Amino acid sequence: MTGPNKNNKAYTIVVGNEKGGSGKSTSAIHIVVSLLERDYTVAIIDLDARQKSLARYVENRQAYAKQHNLKLVMPEIHVLKRAEGDSIREMDQQDTANFSSLLDELKPIFDYILIDCPGSDSFLSRLAHTSADTLITPVNDSFVDVDLLAKVSPDTYKVEKLSLYSEMVWEARKIRAMKDRGTIDWIVLRNRTSALDAKNKRRVHDVLTELQKRVAFRYVPGFGERVIYRELFPKGLTLVDFSNNKEKMTMSHVAARQEIRRLMDDLKLPGWNSLKINAAE
Ligand SMILES: Nc1ncnc2c1ncn2[C@@H]1O[C@H](COP(=O)(O)OP(=O)(O)OP(=O)(O)O)[C@@H](O)[C@H]1O
Ligand SMILES: [Mg+2]
Repeated sequence: MTGPNKNNKAYTIVVGNEKGGSGKSTSAIHIVVSLLERDYTVAIIDLDARQKSLARYVENRQAYAKQHNLKLVMPEIHVLKRAEGDSIREMDQQDTANFSSLLDELKPIFDYILIDCPGSDSFLSRLAHTSADTLITPVNDSFVDVDLLAKVSPDTYKVEKLSLYSEMVWEARKIRAMKDRGTIDWIVLRNRTSALDAKNKRRVHDVLTELQKRVAFRYVPGFGERVIYRELFPKGLTLVDFSNNKEKMTMSHVAARQEIRRLMDDLKLPGWNSLKINAAE
């Protein structure tokens, strides 16, 4: 299939949020497998060289496919290690060189590159943000997570000022514009929304709706709180695989798969045509 790779330049998706455990790697693997299922070629760069959650997810997937003689679509996976050096400056320079040469190697070959960032601020993570065509930031459905995007008044729930992560993305956008006049399509998605806490859900929704205008991101619905997202890791499977392998699906699985499809449509990635998959069903 002809991918969106124009002029030997893969489209780069960065999944980032300084907040740990917000659902970056879970979102990442579902996006990657969705793209692979459409015959696009995808390379992953896992920047979390310590936990390597996404790389481990793919390793589990390879092992499971082998064990059960399954033909599962696979991304190519790269883990970028932090450079070692005598000074921070030296390490940063080495990181920049390593990151750039890996991107230069992958860009002509793949349709998409997905970079999964660690849940903390790091030089490499900032650098990766400046290379994003699309930046995806999952946030848990809680004001603790929203706090990294903006300070919110405790009385009125109005946005008072931007926080660390929003400012970092602002900087990344400036650097990106200077580098190649490119723009970053920033998407904030809510993760682990619960049907039980309607009041909190509405407040977080109101704050993100207000914030999206001020910080220029697109706020989209993401994933509900579902046990299935936690259970798939050991097999390296995603809900996208379920539809093809015709495993037993519960109502919750069906709903989760719908969430993933909706997210893929909401991302508006180049080459993604929402009608195609619906027509195939
Ligand atoms: N929608 C969801 N429903 C239930 N559990 C979820 C959901 N999303 C993520 N989880 C679980 O939450 C935990 C953290 O998710 P994940 O590893 O994707 O976050 P992360 O942002 O990549 O974390 P880190 O910052 O450590 O890299 C995992 O155990 C994952 O299975
Ligand atoms: Mg992760």
